[in-house]
Amino acid sequence: MDNFLDKLAQDHEIQTILDDQSIEAKERNAFNPPLCDVFRKPSTQLQDGNHPFFIDPEAKKQLPDIIDNKVQYIIEGDANNTEAISQFRKKQRIGIAFSGGPSPGGHNVIAGIFDAAKKANPESVIIGFLMGLDGVMENEYIELTKEGVDYYRNIGGFTLIKTGRAKIDSSKKVEKARQTCKDLHLDALVIVGGDDSNTNAAFLAQELRKDGVKVIGVPKTIDGDVQVRDDNGDVLCAISFGFHSAARFYAQEISHLGSDGSSDVKYWHVCKVMGRVASHIALEAALQTHANMTLIGEDLIDYVDKERLAISQSKNEIDFDAYGVNLEKLCGIVSQAVVRRARFGKNHGILIIPEGILEFINEIQTLIIKLNIVIAHYNIHHNISFHSDLPSLDDKLAYLNQISQKGGRYTIWRPQDNELFNTIPAFFREDLLMERDNHGNFPFSLVETERVLMGLVEDYLNKLFEKGEYKIGIKRAYFEKIMHKGGLSPQIFGPILFQNYNDTQKPLLMKKNIISEDSLRQSLIQAGKLTDTETISPSLIKILKKSIPNFKTRLHFYGYDGRGSNPTRFDCMYAFNLGFAVFSLIANGSTGQMAAIKNLEKGFKHWKPIGIPLAPLMHLEERKGMLSLVMEKSVVDTASPAFQVVKHLREKWLAANEAPECYRKPAPIRFTGDTEEDRPMTLLLNGSDYLKSILDQS
Ligand code: FBP
Repeated sequence: MDNFLDKLAQDHEIQTILDDQSIEAKERNAFNPPLCDVFRKPSTQLQDGNHPFFIDPEAKKQLPDIIDNKVQYIIEGDANNTEAISQFRKKQRIGIAFSGGPSPGGHNVIAGIFDAAKKANPESVIIGFLMGLDGVMENEYIELTKEGVDYYRNIGGFTLIKTGRAKIDSSKKVEKARQTCKDLHLDALVIVGGDDSNTNAAFLAQELRKDGVKVIGVPKTIDGDVQVRDDNGDVLCAISFGFHSAARFYAQEISHLGSDGSSDVKYWHVCKVMGRVASHIALEAALQTHANMTLIGEDLIDYVDKERLAISQSKNEIDFDAYGVNLEKLCGIVSQAVVRRARFGKNHGILIIPEGILEFINEIQTLIIKLNIVIAHYNIHHNISFHSDLPSLDDKLAYLNQISQKGGRYTIWRPQDNELFNTIPAFFREDLLMERDNHGNFPFSLVETERVLMGLVEDYLNKLFEKGEYKIGIKRAYFEKIMHKGGLSPQIFGPILFQNYNDTQKPLLMKKNIISEDSLRQSLIQAGKLTDTETISPSLIKILKKSIPNFKTRLHFYGYDGRGSNPTRFDCMYAFNLGFAVFSLIANGSTGQMAAIKNLEKGFKHWKPIGIPLAPLMHLEERKGMLSLVMEKSVVDTASPAFQVVKHLREKWLAANEAPECYRKPAPIRFTGDTEEDRPMTLLLNGSDYLKSILDQS
């Protein structure tokens, strides 16, 4: 059988079955995403738009040459302006680098730039830097060919040129990048990335301007947190590419759990979805699946503990702890939802947790920021890094303990921080101390948030059980059947066992004090239905057992899988048009701009390709223990129509009643077909004038 593989290769049918490229992949390759009208014209030109921005003085100082850039609309080129047209058709040498996590649609950005550049001038050269910005600094690249680009059209991942998380953040690194651009005679460098990578693009645009190298950013990230509005609230970039595909992928997986979980009704499925800080993906997944409960980090900040508030108000005091959420309150919120469903016999459900939820929990956020600073200071003041010098958890804890006693420059880590930190389970402390990325970001995806949270929820539920508050509701008909089988009268035993026997509308809830055989025995003796020496009827034991919840969870992390999924039609089209927009900006001489498509929240025919100035999007933020100029991340706006819809439907989707579940099944990701959505649901709702008008009135 040595030549088995050779023999397989001789048969066309078998060859087709075993082809590395599936039929779907080939169909995807052949799909030509529609282009905005303007990109079908022979050439384009740019027109300044009037969009005000608040400018951070620090941005003005650090990015002087690009701070006055305007929003640029890409419009049809003037056919009579021969000079502009020959400039547009000039041979270009364009370098592209992906930066940060993969995001479905990336290959289409490349395809768009490639097609647009070759259409304008077939001599143009497109270079793909390998492994992100490291490729730029190390001059590692491939020249992109039609075959290479075609193989990945409409396909997920960043496989063609890979990606990385390097940052060009020192003069030495800038010089390396400058040298590469010189060596390759680049006219332009395109950085396809999230907020941090677009920050990098802004600084490089400033630096490389004098070399005549244009730098253009592209809004990429599944997290959906690269969104831009001008100061009047006009939306310039509603979402980054890749968000729709990843959210749809996660939603589909979660909806399958809905089918399984509402069939084999024994688990709470806890689904953590990616999204470093912002909860956009969780919000979209909620809309797509109607899961029983979805936590939205941004919503927790606005949380007010009404009971606490009422108590403090009655004493004429201010209780600051009534505002915002700490871990205990969050566990209380989740546990109450579990308890409420259990009362209707539903001891199962679907809970969605955004990866970045910890960022919105008071004490954890404080600890993360403080540890960021401690680690950054350590790295600045020692020759060896915090994580290499203090490899074990014990080493790190000893160091934290030591600095908590010291004061001085270490006042950031005080004895009370140390005490609080030591109350956290060891594995979670280890998580909070994990190495930060090159941008100083905390690695939320590596933290087992779902495990931490559900461990604490379980403890909370145990307490509620002991207090007699966590019970499984029992159907009256079932109770009566078991009683009759055991020769017992439901009318006699019902009032002894249940707190709500007279309420014929709701499932029966065991009395608070009956939580074990012992407590059941006591109740029966007190009611005169059992003597000290008699055994309890098996029928009563059966009902008792039925009322005792067995809280079982299954934890799921939806992250890297969705990041690598194939793009939806929306992302195929969006990313392809972004590629064309990038080329138009470069060919018309722009630098320091981020390519974008305005009106994404409306239908395709309304799409308008634009360039957004990067410098005005920068503001000061804590990074690596100091204030740095970075692009502002957009988190979920709790006043937005999409969030308000989810908020108002929460109770329905929780289904803490006898009604069936409301689970919704989203379609699988497709690039064609009538069932394919034309845009994310969040965008549909946020773009609805009707919803906006209702919200404005309320
Ligand atoms: P980008 O912001 O670079 O697009 O990456 C987003 C993301 O996928 C987050 O959702 C996640 O927290 C993070 O990357 C994971 O990072 P890593 O690839 O380093 O594990």
